[in-house]
Amino acid sequence: MTGVLHSAGRGVLLVGASGLAREVLAAGAIGVVGIVDDDPRLHGALIDGVPVTGDIASAVDRVEKLLLCIGPSTSRRAVGDRLRLAGVGDDRFASFVAGSGRIGRSSRIGAGAIVLDGTVVTADARIGAHAVVMPNCVITHDDVLEEYATLAAGVVLGGAVTVGAAAFVGMNASVAPGRRVGSGATVGMGAVVLGDVPDGQTWAGVPARSLHAAVGASAGAGAGAGAAIPAGRAS
Ligand SMILES: CC(C)(COP(=O)(O)OP(=O)(O)OC[C@H]1O[C@@H](n2cnc3c(N)ncnc32)[C@H](O)[C@@H]1OP(=O)(O)O)[C@@H](O)C(=O)NCCC(=O)NCCS
Repeated sequence: MTGVLHSAGRGVLLVGASGLAREVLAAGAIGVVGIVDDDPRLHGALIDGVPVTGDIASAVDRVEKLLLCIGPSTSRRAVGDRLRLAGVGDDRFASFVAGSGRIGRSSRIGAGAIVLDGTVVTADARIGAHAVVMPNCVITHDDVLEEYATLAAGVVLGGAVTVGAAAFVGMNASVAPGRRVGSGATVGMGAVVLGDVPDGQTWAGVPARSLHAAVGASAGAGAGAGAAIPAGRAS
């Protein structure tokens, strides 16, 4: 099954010779003419039959559309910011919806967004620019993914959830209706998020709790249930 790569017939360069780039190719993206990556050891290599043509800066003056294929939200945003500073506008970005991804007719996806197979987006949801939704996610009515947000495989969002800019929600996590995952926050795999996750914090567990708060609690009250857990980032 092929996916729909919105490229206005200009061909597409994938930015980042990553696992995500291979997933986009494996999902049947047609019209990808090359991959750019800053690792010179990859230049000239073929990835799923597609050549790595040069570094990321070389994409600026090409005619093709671009698709940022960098998994971690903050790294993807850093590259997007570099390209914007170099004069690359929103109109240069393709978006990709894999063949078995379903976008409800009242929902919208932004420039540079990627939606992989098996994901269902229901009514009046908005997937922001450069957001990435991995396979088998469920995005329900009125959900908002802000720019550069990432949902790993199997995430389920209740209605009217907001996932902030460059936030990362780990595999098989669920977020209760109406809640907000803050900008730059990380939600651990398998978490059940019942409250709002503040910007930049890492929450995990069932029900999800702040890993930062667990450190603070153990320092003040001794180690009990939920003893010190170091904060961390998804890779
Ligand atoms: C939450 C997360 C970001 C924490 O990463 P980290 O800071 O490296 O954490 P560590 O692995 O050092 O674990 C720290 C503690 O948190 C616990 N922990 C880690 N992840 C957890 C999770 N998802 N749920 C519950 N507890 C978790 C560990 O058991 C450990 O507890 P301990 O100190 O009692 O042994 C990470 O484990 C995670 O879930 N990342 C998402 C991965 C993912 O979905 N990737 C998608 C691939 S595309």
